[in-house]
Amino acid sequence: MTLVTRLIEPVRTAPALARPGGIRSRIGWTFVVLTAIAIVAYSAVPYFTATLADLAGDDVGLAPTYAAAPPFVQGALYVHIVGGAIALVAGPLQFWRGLRTRAPRAHRWIGRVYLGAVAIGGVGGLIIAPSSPAGYVGFFGFGALAVLWLVTGWRAYRAIRRGDVPGHRAWMIRNYALTYSGVTLRIWLPLLLLAPLVMGQPWEFDTAFANAYAAVPFLCWLPNLVFAEWLIRRRGLPSYRLPV
Ligand code: HEM
Repeated sequence: MTLVTRLIEPVRTAPALARPGGIRSRIGWTFVVLTAIAIVAYSAVPYFTATLADLAGDDVGLAPTYAAAPPFVQGALYVHIVGGAIALVAGPLQFWRGLRTRAPRAHRWIGRVYLGAVAIGGVGGLIIAPSSPAGYVGFFGFGALAVLWLVTGWRAYRAIRRGDVPGHRAWMIRNYALTYSGVTLRIWLPLLLLAPLVMGQPWEFDTAFANAYAAVPFLCWLPNLVFAEWLIRRRGLPSYRLPV
């Protein structure tokens, strides 16, 4: 068996500790729910407490960048934030086995809301990506994330319409791993900001921020996708095969 075959071959047996519903799985799920709620409260809700101009005056998030953007881009930012926030909070409910088995209708409806939120959040993300203060890195990093977010959501929907439940689960894991970049971005950013201090290097906020922000447009989602693929194999779901 070559290395490539081994990488794309799905693992059929899942270790007991990682089985859905196991203790590690529950701890992981609870962590995801709590961090998703915290990030929505901390980074999305403030955009609905005042105008962009006022928020820019208080230096809130990326308001200073977007306060000067055309109304179309500002509208896309709000649509993106609403879609991202709904997807982030609704997503974990879909991985809750109790809800899937006891209330399949609720699972279907939340799934429609989730995928609708991904659709508007992804289109909004595509529109605002060229305005990113990270320049080309922001454009390509966030742009690729938006495209993959839309494509994986579409594949998850197509799979369940065909009745392919394992395929649907695998695509939803990939899709939510990308949604969760809304959280991982905000974990990486402070870590990268403080890294020079830990390494005893000279530190100045603007330089440290520019440096950190040049990495996060890719760092916020690439490791998530790798983790998702690992989880998919561990659960014995169909892992991704490159089209030949
Ligand atoms: C997964 C696909 C996502 C893509 C492609 C994406 C894309 C973007 C882009 C391009 C920006 C502007 C960044 C810049 O100008 O440098 C942005 C900002 C923002 N996004 Fe997302 N994002 C995604 C997920 C999420 C999620 C799940 C949330 C939920 C909270 C979210 C909430 C926000 C917020 C609040 C901002 C404003 C910036 C801030 O204050 O932190 N995004 N996003």
